[in-house]
Formats: sequence, C-alpha cells, structure tokens
Amino acid sequence: MGWFRRKKNAVHKAMRQAEETGGAVLPEYHRPTPECPQPHLWSMYDSMTAEVEVLEFLRTLVTTIKPNLIVETGSFLGVSSLWMAEGLQRNGFGRLVSCELDPVVYAKAAAKIAESGLSDWIDLRNASSLEMKIDGTIDLFFSDSDLPIREQEVKHFLSKMNPHGLLLMHDASSHLKTVREAALRMEAEGLISAVLLPTPRGLVVAQKREGRR
Ligand SMILES: C[S@@+](CC[C@H](N)C(=O)[O-])C[C@H]1O[C@@H](n2cnc3c(N)ncnc32)[C@H](O)[C@@H]1O
Repeated sequence: MGWFRRKKNAVHKAMRQAEETGGAVLPEYHRPTPECPQPHLWSMYDSMTAEVEVLEFLRTLVTTIKPNLIVETGSFLGVSSLWMAEGLQRNGFGRLVSCELDPVVYAKAAAKIAESGLSDWIDLRNASSLEMKIDGTIDLFFSDSDLPIREQEVKHFLSKMNPHGLLLMHDASSHLKTVREAALRMEAEGLISAVLLPTPRGLVVAQKREGRR
C-alpha cells in the first residue's frame, strides 16, 4: 500500500473512532515524554483533534490577541476551528480560514460547522495547505496538518504573517520529533523565535523575527 493511501486510511480510522466515542472526553493517551511525564492529566476527544486543554488555550488566545485573520491547516472534523470561532464570536470580529485536504473528512467537518451556529466565522476549504491562497495579513496561524510538511507550511505563510502575530505548531513533542526539530531549525535559521509548551503532543508558540520591534 502506498504512503499516501496509508496516511489517508489512518485519518479515516481516526475519524471513525471519533464518531464512535461521540464526543466523550477521554484521558490523553499519547506516551509520556521528559517534558510532559504525566499526559493522563490532560484530556482528549480522539487522537487527531488537539487536546481539550489546547482547544481551551486556542480559544483564549483568540480572545487575548483579538486576531482579524486566523489561518489553520488541517481541519480534521472541525473541532479546533469551532473552538477558535467561539473566540472570534466573543470578540465580535475576525475570520478563520481552515483547510482540509481529504474530501471525505472535509465533508464531515463542513456538516459539523454548518450545524454549529458558528459558520459565519469560518471559511472552510477543501485544499492543501501548501497551495492555499490567503488574502490579508495573518494574525494567528495554527499549523496542524501532516507532520512532515509543517516546516514547508510555515515557510509558505511566513511572508503573510503579522510580525506581532502568533504562529502555533501542534504535535511538537520530543517523542513526535519532526515538528519540534522543524521549529528549532527555523529558529536557528533566524526565521522565528519559539517557545515549546510541554503538553502531551507538544505545542510550539512562535513569532516571526522579521519585522518584529
Ligand atoms: C491532526 S488533524 C487536525 C486536527 C484539528 N486541527 C483539530 O485539532 O481539531 C490533521 C488533518 O490534516 C489533514 N491534512 C493532511 N495534510 C494536509 C494538507 N497538506 N493540507 C490540509 N490538510 C491536510 C489530514 O487529513 C487531517 O484531517
């Protein structure tokens, strides 16, 4: 079986699991890491959707920094999009553009968003992050698609980033490695300044260096 097909099957499997658990909150089951030795203290809906505490953090970031434009890569079932949209709704302005590559997953996310009452805040696209065109300056960027392309993704959108805005990269734990190493590499290259939050799957909070005063 090809690499792309294996990835697609893994996403579809996670989607079915998410549907089976029906929104139940479970203890986080990603393995302990030196930076986060007790992951079970966190909660999750499923293995793809960001940890519940990270969803809460995303919503709070939106109300804290009041972005005009949020871009998310990797919508999956639209759960993190909805949490950020709640923040936008509370702010009373702003928009979120989120992209999902897989058409089947995209259709599920679109249906969930349509019935949420938050669809006015979300522009959901069935597109690849690396090909997505964005109009305007990005104030909050949440990179949550496929692990190996996160570095490319950040570099793709960096010129569009507000230097005072925030750039988040999920799945940056020392166990998952790829994203953490990508963030540290971009920091060494002088592109971003990064903080590594010690959550079960890891979260990079960064800012682009260029233009920052
Ligand atoms: C970790 S899940 C996203 C979880 C979601 N942000 C949440 O917390 O609710 C990753 C998703 O990215 C999608 N994906 C993979 N490569 C992509 C790409 N190049 N562009 C957009 N989406 C992609 C996958 O199909 C999958 O649904």
